[in-house]
Amino acid sequence: MIQIVEHTAAESPCAIGAALAATGLPVRVCRAWAGERLPDTVDGMVALVVLDGPTGTLGLTAQLALLRAALEAEVPVLGLGTGARLLALAADGDTAKHALPDHSRTPHDETDVRVLRITPSAWGLRFHQVPHADGVYDRFATLVANRAEHTTTRAFFTRRAASWDERFTDDGPRYTAAAHRMELRPGQRVLDVGCGTGRVLPALRDQVGPAGVVAGVDLTPAMLTAAARQGRGGQGHLVLADACRLPLRAGAVDGVFSAGLLNHLPDPRRALCEWARITAPDGVLLLFHPSGHAERAARHGRPLAPDDPLTENNLLPALRATGWHPACYEDAPHHFLLRAVRRAD
Ligand SMILES: C[S@@+](CC[C@H](N)C(=O)[O-])C[C@H]1O[C@@H](n2cnc3c(N)ncnc32)[C@H](O)[C@@H]1O
Repeated sequence: MIQIVEHTAAESPCAIGAALAATGLPVRVCRAWAGERLPDTVDGMVALVVLDGPTGTLGLTAQLALLRAALEAEVPVLGLGTGARLLALAADGDTAKHALPDHSRTPHDETDVRVLRITPSAWGLRFHQVPHADGVYDRFATLVANRAEHTTTRAFFTRRAASWDERFTDDGPRYTAAAHRMELRPGQRVLDVGCGTGRVLPALRDQVGPAGVVAGVDLTPAMLTAAARQGRGGQGHLVLADACRLPLRAGAVDGVFSAGLLNHLPDPRRALCEWARITAPDGVLLLFHPSGHAERAARHGRPLAPDDPLTENNLLPALRATGWHPACYEDAPHHFLLRAVRRAD
């Protein structure tokens, strides 16, 4: 969902609204000027647009908190006029440094459209009701549409990253046991895809020893930051990348481990294909979750969908079609584990 924040009834989304509507993504407007409450988090948000207008006392603290959360999670942000000033303030607390306009300054110089790039995905725009701005709006809308799927993931996990390990303190031994099921040898190369805070990296390092190579890949920078804080960067490389477009050559690893990721990806087969590409013949894939898949669904009172990618009926054919030989499928009450071997095609 695209969140727009209005500061006055006189400044409606107009051209930026039209550019964003053209993406087909749902748009939600918060009329801060009418006292409407801002969302507390960026969960589910694919972009945040803060419009121009007098800020007064319209929930400034909440707006700055939301902008900071968006910046941290790399949710694309566009600030117009006052919105740009708030964005700069949220980014580093120094609006003067960015020479942003004082809203009281009139008349506007209609040709003066300055885009302030606070981060690659957070832009401030000085004035918006000018023809020159349309190109900026279209570029922003394209950025939002292209990144929507990744933005949603990052928005969700960024907020949870710092306390991730605290929430699941009992899982450690089960991750270690799962890593052992890979049966890796000293000196081998292994990748944890969707590694989060890198909980399994020490166990994978134990398997391959100091001569081996261990890496964890994740899409959410905050998860990798949390991994580094826990010292997991000492166990393996931490890499920011998409599970479906890994920056590795064909056959680069002897094993792929992945916990809690595959069934959340929009195209699981594409991921299995990509993981097969980077795995050497006879290499191992281990999919894991510290609770049973069917058991978890039952616990949440929802039946497994017929197209659920982790059910045996769906997963085994998907593996065979993407270059894997399934060797073991366990959906036990207390863990989910799939072991497959890379076919030598
Ligand atoms: C449920 S968490 C599991 C984290 C870790 N494997 C664990 O078991 O603690 C899923 C992780 O996958 C990451 N993720 C989601 N989509 C991804 C993608 N397309 N590419 C890489 N990582 C992704 C998320 O950022 C998150 O850290």
